[in-house]
Amino acid sequence: MQLAEITASVADDLRAVDQFIRARLTSDIGLINELANHIVSGGGKRIRPLIVLLTARAAGYTGGRHINLAAIIELIHTATLLHDDVVDGSELRRGRETANALWGDAASVLVGDFLYTRAFQMMVEIDSMRVMAITANATNAIAEGEVLQLIHCNDPDASEAQYFLVIERKTARLFEAAARLGAVIAGRGREEEDALGNYGLNLGLAYQLIDDTLDYGADPRDTGKNLGDDLSEGKVTLPLIYARDHVNDDTSARLRRAIEKGGAESLEEAIEAIQTTGALEHVRDRAAAYRDAALAELNVFAPSAERDALSALASFAVKRTY
Ligand code: IPE
Ligand code: IPE
Ligand code: MG
Ligand code: MG
Repeated sequence: MQLAEITASVADDLRAVDQFIRARLTSDIGLINELANHIVSGGGKRIRPLIVLLTARAAGYTGGRHINLAAIIELIHTATLLHDDVVDGSELRRGRETANALWGDAASVLVGDFLYTRAFQMMVEIDSMRVMAITANATNAIAEGEVLQLIHCNDPDASEAQYFLVIERKTARLFEAAARLGAVIAGRGREEEDALGNYGLNLGLAYQLIDDTLDYGADPRDTGKNLGDDLSEGKVTLPLIYARDHVNDDTSARLRRAIEKGGAESLEEAIEAIQTTGALEHVRDRAAAYRDAALAELNVFAPSAERDALSALASFAVKRTY
């Protein structure tokens, strides 16, 4: 299923989410409007709000507050992108120059803070301690994940175990939160909330694993992001870890030096090592295992168009090329 088909059952809701985000982004500070509008209207797949909408509906919710929650989750995600592109020194996002490339690092970090805090203002309006706890915990975990990643940057010995700790926090916990919110707003009990939480967590791991393959093998015209940003930043992701550990000693030593040094000079050699070792296939297989773990959690729900869409979304996370 294409993403457009997966979103079909909640297409109106998704439009409402976008309208709501736009309505709530405004500030009397012009730079905030300009920069925030740049990133929000740059496209983006809206996967995380989609998870909130689909899980809420699959859990039987018939009200309207899932729109607010979906908008909150997307705003948090957008804030992390602004910060992440500064930290990663990235120049292309959603097919456009990044906000940091256009307005500088300081403006990006500060408007990222604006988005985070606006999301928290919107959360207070929901008036639910459980919603607050889920969202606050996920947001805090993202910060930890990004710091942990920073610590392992340029480390030639970075391990697979360290990598998984990073991606769970920086990415998968927000997916988990999105799915939990759907259950909470629908008034489902803890067991179903946990099942959906596990769905989201596993989906998020698969999603980031594939993101890390795309950094070495996708077309920037599809992803809207530059190739090779991860190696440039000395970010040691699973494709590189796998290649490093499955080439001969000479090549491995050169890859280690490339990790320590960062920069784009060794990208070609890294891509070649990744190709010859079958690293991308390996990572896709690992992602598929997380997809399957996510799918297994959906059995708690009665069949519905939304449940089907959640399972198609898990498949999309692994098949995607953008
Ligand atoms: C990018 O997320 C950051 C990751 C966690 C991989 P997306 O690929 O969902 O980015 P947009 O929102 O579609 O631009
Ligand atoms: C995404 O990590 C994690 C967050 C944005 C918190 P990446 O650095 O891999 O994301 P992209 O590739 O820049 O979108
Ligand atoms: Mg990045
Ligand atoms: Mg990436």
